[in-house]
Amino acid sequence: MKIGTVRIAHPITLAPMEEHTNYPFRLLAKQFGASLVCTERIDAADVARRDRRALKLLHTQPQEAPRAGQISGADPAVCAEAARVVEEKGFDIVDLNFECPIKRLVNRGEGGALLADPTAVERIVAAVAKAVSIPVTLKIRTGPDATRETAVLIAQRAEQAGAAAVDLHARSVAQAYLGGPDWSAVARVKQAVGIPVLGSGGIRVAADARKYLTESGADAVAVGRGCLGNPWIFRQARALLQGGADIPDPTPAERGRVLLGLIEAEFQFYGPAAALRRLARTSCYFAKMIPEFAAFREGVHRVRDQAEFRRLVKEHFR
Ligand SMILES: Cc1cc2nc3c(=O)[nH]c(=O)nc-3n(C[C@H](O)[C@H](O)[C@H](O)COP(=O)(O)O)c2cc1C
Repeated sequence: MKIGTVRIAHPITLAPMEEHTNYPFRLLAKQFGASLVCTERIDAADVARRDRRALKLLHTQPQEAPRAGQISGADPAVCAEAARVVEEKGFDIVDLNFECPIKRLVNRGEGGALLADPTAVERIVAAVAKAVSIPVTLKIRTGPDATRETAVLIAQRAEQAGAAAVDLHARSVAQAYLGGPDWSAVARVKQAVGIPVLGSGGIRVAADARKYLTESGADAVAVGRGCLGNPWIFRQARALLQGGADIPDPTPAERGRVLLGLIEAEFQFYGPAAALRRLARTSCYFAKMIPEFAAFREGVHRVRDQAEFRRLVKEHFR
């Protein structure tokens, strides 16, 4: 698949997730075989004024290519300026978020609110496509709620405005993250546009990725919560698609080894205080599958530095 001029090696990609898909986690997903990774959603206004926190979220290095930087906003000029910053930072793709269900954003007429306004989406996509030379993609949902499916219309209007791909989270904004995804909506969007279509929603194990790809005809899938604490899913899904043998789930020791690598990367990237705060949650995703989960979770809130964190992981992931 090609998104504009950017070649995507295979159909298993990482979905953007706030508080999760930071630089260390994206690199990990890449190492485990995700073909495309994406930052979490960042306010276009913050990016446009080069806010320090926003720029940290946009940290990237060539080794994670191809990667997308995601912004959200409702003002075409602000989104265009933010997209220029995303390009400047080295991203291969700029992704526009028209899907976020968070009330604060929706009440401002941003994120998922824009699914009710195809003309506004078209204007934003056109302004951004004009402002940058990298491909512009968009992340949408099926529509504002179950009674209004606008995904097909939005995807068509965005394509006309210059979008190079569309990524559909197969739930409505009203659903947020609950309830079954409707992959038939991905199939309808795929039928309606010529640009590549990616789908996400409900991929928990590798076989789900294959099933949804086949059912919907999508060009690629984006793995969301299914990869939290479980980057192995990228490798397993890719092997399944290639018709290879099943790759078994990792042993606790292997999980611990990979977690230790992530701990080291997060301490390096954030410094001790922020790393400890973030890792308390991230490491529990890795620990969910080990028998000593409860004890690990308790311990994680007591560790005070990297050495203690390392000891705790070694003690429990055996
Ligand atoms: C914690 C969390 C944060 C998310 N943050 C973003 C985001 O910043 N931008 C975005 O486009 N989608 C975001 N999503 C949606 C995912 O990209 C993806 O579409 C969705 O998680 C797919 O459903 P699944 O988790 O059931 O696989 C987020 C999802 C979760 C669970």
